[in-house]
Amino acid sequence: MTEGDAELEARLAEQEVFEPPESFVEQANVSDPGIYEEFEENWPECWEGAADLLDWYEGYDQVLDDSDPPFYEWFTDGKLNASANCLDRHLDERGDEAAIEWVGEPVDEADRTYTYEELHREVNEFAAALRDIGVGEDDVVTLYMPMIPELPVAMLACARIGAPHSVVFAGFSADALATRMNAADSEYLVTCDGYYRRGDPLDHLGKAEEGLSGVEHETTTVVVDRLGPNGDGFGHDLGDKHDYGDLVAAHAGAEVDPVVRDAEDMLFLMYTSGTTGKPKGVKHTTGGYLAWASWTSQSVLDIKPEDTYFCSADIGWITGHSYIVYGPLALGTTTMMYEGTPDHPDRDRLWEIVEEYEATQLYTAPTAIRAFMKWGSEYPDAHDLSSLRLLGTVGEPINPRAWKWYYKHIGGEECPIVDTWWQTETGGMMVTTLPGVGDMKPGSAGPPLPGVDVRIVDTGGDEVEAGRAGYLTVDKPWPGMLRTLYNNDERYIEEYWAEYSDLDSDDPDDWVYFPEDGAKIDEDGYITVLGRVDDVINVSGHRLGTMEIESAIVGVEGVAEAAVVGGHHDIKGEAVYAYVITEEGYEENDELRERIVAGVEDAIGPIARPEQVVFTPDLPKTRSGKIMRRLLENIADGEELGNTSTLRNPEIVEDIQRKAGGD
Ligand code: WTA
Repeated sequence: MTEGDAELEARLAEQEVFEPPESFVEQANVSDPGIYEEFEENWPECWEGAADLLDWYEGYDQVLDDSDPPFYEWFTDGKLNASANCLDRHLDERGDEAAIEWVGEPVDEADRTYTYEELHREVNEFAAALRDIGVGEDDVVTLYMPMIPELPVAMLACARIGAPHSVVFAGFSADALATRMNAADSEYLVTCDGYYRRGDPLDHLGKAEEGLSGVEHETTTVVVDRLGPNGDGFGHDLGDKHDYGDLVAAHAGAEVDPVVRDAEDMLFLMYTSGTTGKPKGVKHTTGGYLAWASWTSQSVLDIKPEDTYFCSADIGWITGHSYIVYGPLALGTTTMMYEGTPDHPDRDRLWEIVEEYEATQLYTAPTAIRAFMKWGSEYPDAHDLSSLRLLGTVGEPINPRAWKWYYKHIGGEECPIVDTWWQTETGGMMVTTLPGVGDMKPGSAGPPLPGVDVRIVDTGGDEVEAGRAGYLTVDKPWPGMLRTLYNNDERYIEEYWAEYSDLDSDDPDDWVYFPEDGAKIDEDGYITVLGRVDDVINVSGHRLGTMEIESAIVGVEGVAEAAVVGGHHDIKGEAVYAYVITEEGYEENDELRERIVAGVEDAIGPIARPEQVVFTPDLPKTRSGKIMRRLLENIADGEELGNTSTLRNPEIVEDIQRKAGGD
């Protein structure tokens, strides 16, 4: 480090407020601070501007119908199609421009560019094929694919024919796939033979087939051939499954008129973890969701058609849905997709991609930034990253040190950073600075977006003072909100509204959305999100329910009882720690430990893999039998123990602590 650098580091370390760079403000899509007041005064009509970003077959009657809270409807009776909005309307002006720039994992493989015209063609062909194999309007199609271009093609093909998709993250297990297909009554699956991970081909179809064997109804499956001859070793036989390439070839040149969908018709389902063991099927709609994804892409990510925008998330999660596929394509920009991991073949892979494609924005997760930081700044420093104009983060809180590292080493101190708080359920961003307007405070996401009514309250629902921890609530509906949980209105109310609403009231003012996050607010109205307050663990920005993991562990032979908590992890943010009571006659040994880890991987996937499995004769419980997770969290974090006086078995805690420490 030169002396100049050292000075700079010291200055950065102390600085708490960063102004948006002048060069950015000058060209920003949104730069007028008046937008906050304007939206507040003009609510909910302020969201007409978001709807105006889309093409409608028929205009809507009402911006918001709030006559039956919490079943809100947006842009009522408006008619549109999401695939037409993401493709057809760009053909005249941008047909030859890249819609998707796809970078495969193998370094020596040619990258693939899909112009809008090419993407439109393949989406039409696959839409025709889906219809041919029986997919009708409103049939749920499950997509179980990694980061290959056929995934967005399939999403848009579904949208074109009005069939909601349910994307299941490729890293999820066979069981997780089966649970989701059963829950959604989904009779169609699009998957692939395999993909590459760190240079090696990986079998995916085997897992998909195992999942299908757990599906209770008849299914029709389409398989994308990703690996070609490299997949031969897995010995797959397609049997009665369809080959994607053959289907598309058989429908070459087909054109499918986009189905006219109502604004409130379902665009997709996305399963996410909650407090109970069963994943929740979050329902998003065509009009409100697409307007929200588009408006936030434009005003927060500052996307312009001529950009090459890069989000490194996986399309299997909501971030990829909203900010790789729907938002960017609705705005007619070039969106990037990368199949591999950031450290293969070397730790500069992302920077190589940014440099080669001259990416203009990078949207990633704090867990990735922490890993980059650990690997060292020599990797980004070796590349020209000056094409970048804006940086973003999502998924978990980012600590100020990682924020500043990102700002300096990736953004060259010339890019604003948007720290965006939102969830699967919100459809898109809710709390973040507008990059051309607001000052940034590292570690704090920022104020709620204009027109978004977020408050930080105590358990009684009263707003807490600045600086005090409380619960984050959303007091007014917004277009991108989930509409319900699939086939389960009751659970929708129970999970998100019951905490702070008057459930008997018809007055929307009595209804408050609770996202189950803790947060605090400062004097300037900047919100720092503190993390989940329910039994959800955030591993590398991915939501996992402790109940789901516990039931997987209890399903392992020899396990009597289990408790799972999230403990601190330098890179992942949180990691899974499991405390397990064995059944009589089973030994507490590594063999059982391995079976427990394998059981979790089978039920959910490798992301849920426990960091540590501790055997114990008992779990810390209150007199009423409730497990005191807080104490287990203390143990996982190697912290001093909290109050144990309410336990019926206080002696067990130190015992577990000793065992966790390796005695
Ligand atoms: C957490 C991901 C702090 C939060 C888009 C939320 C964050 C959960 C942030 C949703 C952020 C997301 N700062 N925490 N900027 N963004 N979270 O559904 O706990 O996978 O409730 O959606 O991630 O996770 P989900």
